[in-house]
Amino acid sequence: MAAAVEIQGLSCRFGGVKALDAVDIRLSPGEVLGLIGPNGSGKTSLFNLLTGHHNPEAGAILLDGLDLAGQSPSQIARFGIARTFQNLRLLRRLSVYENVRAARHACAPLRDAFWLSPAARRQERDSLMNLLDIFGLSEKAQKTPAELTLVQMRHLEIARLLAADPKLVLLDEPAAGMTSAETQAITEVIATHVLPGRSAIVIEHKMQLVAALCPRIAVLNAGRKIADGPTGQVLADSAVRQSYFGAKPC
Ligand SMILES: Nc1ncnc2c1ncn2[C@@H]1O[C@H](COP(=O)(O)OP(=O)(O)O)[C@@H](O)[C@H]1O
Ligand SMILES: [Mg+2]
Repeated sequence: MAAAVEIQGLSCRFGGVKALDAVDIRLSPGEVLGLIGPNGSGKTSLFNLLTGHHNPEAGAILLDGLDLAGQSPSQIARFGIARTFQNLRLLRRLSVYENVRAARHACAPLRDAFWLSPAARRQERDSLMNLLDIFGLSEKAQKTPAELTLVQMRHLEIARLLAADPKLVLLDEPAAGMTSAETQAITEVIATHVLPGRSAIVIEHKMQLVAALCPRIAVLNAGRKIADGPTGQVLADSAVRQSYFGAKPC
């Protein structure tokens, strides 16, 4: 089930740096928002606040009306928010299969991971192998993340996110370091398997992916939201073009 999100007046500071400055964003259930802006504009900080990894200086985040203030990252994950990290966070000592299995059980009571009947264990295995198959990783199930290419690691991060069956997904530069063909492939996987039935915020510099997945874009610049609207309209906006693409206003 997709979540409604309401971000109200969100601010966050690191010493003298105002990473986010009174940002408002509202998502309807099932809406997919692209979040763009120059490096250092506060995009990842917004995700860190949404997932409880950092605390806001001011403002509120509501998930289906529930105020997330003071909740830990693990509690927030249980409420149905899952993310990928710009600098991948895989479990390096575990196999690819155990990585997705751990992600599935991260939101469930721990006993569920240990007290599965043989039939339930088989069912879980089939389901997780199907998930790895979607990402072209089933043949790598017994490898460790270190044995994967960067592109395969990014796929595994998204498979881990999907294993938790979240209602809000936060993708932080899912196509970073990918070629155009690799970006096209991950775009199709995200469109087919990740977004249906979920709300999403997608941070990405590659406009190829943003334009294909996101009907709406918000733009951050120096911690402030400077535009928010239909993708074509926002990308044509002269202030956005100047701040993000370095183009002169027309
Ligand atoms: N943990 C942190 N400690 C100190 N400064 C940080 C931290 N995280 C982000 N910042 C600063 O906050 C600003 C926004 O960073 P970030 O949210 O990572 O931007 P983006 O993802 O848009 O590139 C930058 O100036 C960055 O240096
Ligand atoms: Mg970032």
